[in-house]
Amino acid sequence: MILTTGSVEETREAGARFAKKISSGDVIVLDGGLGCGKTEFVRGIVESLNRTVIVRSPSFSIVNSYPCGTINLYHFDFYRIEKASELDEIGFSEYCNNDGACIIEWGLMFPEVLPLNAVIIKFSDSGDGKRQIELPFEI
Ligand SMILES: Nc1ncnc2c1ncn2[C@@H]1O[C@H](COP(=O)(O)OP(=O)(O)O)[C@@H](O)[C@H]1O
Ligand SMILES: [Mg+2]
Repeated sequence: MILTTGSVEETREAGARFAKKISSGDVIVLDGGLGCGKTEFVRGIVESLNRTVIVRSPSFSIVNSYPCGTINLYHFDFYRIEKASELDEIGFSEYCNNDGACIIEWGLMFPEVLPLNAVIIKFSDSGDGKRQIELPFEI
C-alpha cells in the first residue's frame, strides 16, 4: 500500500500503525533519501510501544536499542557504513537472529547482509511537506 503523509505527526502515526505488525525476528528496511521521514517513522513506532524512550538518529552510533515491552527494537542506520565488514564487526547478524526486531535506515546499501524475508518500506519526498511511504502490506 502507498500512504501519503502531510506532516511529521502523520508520518509518526503511520509508524505507530506499522508497529502493531512487528514481531520478534523481523528485519525491516527503510529505503529512501535524506529527509524523507525514515527516522520520524521509527520515532512513531518506538514511541507507540514505549513512551519513555527517546529516539535519536543512529547515523553516528550505527545502532540504538530500545526496549519495547516483550521485544527489543534495534534501530540501525547504514548511511555512514563504508563496507559490509564493518557490520560483521558490530555483530549485525546476531542482532537479526536475536529476541528483537531490526529496523534499518539505508539498509539497501548492503543487501548482501539482509535476510531474504526482510520487509522493505520505501520513502520518498513528494513536495510541499508530503512524504510517500510504500509498504508491502496493508497497515
Ligand atoms: N510529511 C512529513 N513526514 C516526515 N517528515 C517531514 C514531513 N514533512 C516534512 N518533514 C521534515 O522532513 C524531515 C524528516 O527527517 P528524518 O525523519 O530525520 O528523515 P530521514 O531519516 O529519512 O533522513 C524532518 O526535518 C521533518 O520535519
Ligand atoms: Mg534518518
